[in-house]
Amino acid sequence: MIRFAILTLFPDMFRSPLASSLLKRAIDKGIISVSIFNIRDFTRDKHHVVDDSPYGGGSGMVMKAGPIVEGIERIKSADGSPRVILMTPQGVRFDHSQARRLSHYDHLLFVCGRYEGVDERVREYIDEEVSIGDYILTGGELAVMVLIDAISRFVPGVLGSEASVAEESFVNTLLEYPQYTRPRVFRGKVVPEVLVSGNHREIVRWRKREALKRTLLRRPDLLDRANLPESDLALLEEIRGEEGRGKGH
Ligand code: 6GU
Repeated sequence: MIRFAILTLFPDMFRSPLASSLLKRAIDKGIISVSIFNIRDFTRDKHHVVDDSPYGGGSGMVMKAGPIVEGIERIKSADGSPRVILMTPQGVRFDHSQARRLSHYDHLLFVCGRYEGVDERVREYIDEEVSIGDYILTGGELAVMVLIDAISRFVPGVLGSEASVAEESFVNTLLEYPQYTRPRVFRGKVVPEVLVSGNHREIVRWRKREALKRTLLRRPDLLDRANLPESDLALLEEIRGEEGRGKGH
């Protein structure tokens, strides 16, 4: 069980991604819960103002500290002590191991900033800052959905089979091998013979080879930090030789 809370100016952005597929099932089963809070509800002024122009001048608006901090405090007082995460392009880059790490908390509170930024004094109330990559989004909302999705996959019971998390890409730092399903011939393209051979050892070997080849061609950076066994390194040399002669794709 993991609880997610979200502080946002746009609660509606979360409705449909949480209403389908695995996340919906996990919520229905009570394995995860998501509570969404509107930052505007924590304003105290008549016009419910959540942002203002920056001191010192400049374009864009800055999110006011008051409503965000009041929101964080209200959620904390109602509901224990969540890990508080500010979504910002200035945060630590999110990846597979960050997802696994965060899945061990039982309560996470995400604060969605807008891209112009939040008043610096909010940072005192934040435990960590997270970004999902080197590009700018209009707000942190989509990034929070990415985190909730990726973190939830590590929570026991969310995926159909627990095996699938462990076997996947980035755990063993190789990309996945190619997959096929029926029909055996699609528009003239035939499923590789080995996969219908019934020879399990050959299938395992083929898949390992294809995973290595794909990683070498698309993400050679992953091979640098992969701790490959001797047998894989030998396969890799073989593939490098073939690719060098222009075989394959
Ligand atoms: Cl967390 N927020 C925004 N606004 N832009 C981003 C991001 C977050 N991560 C990458 N780009």
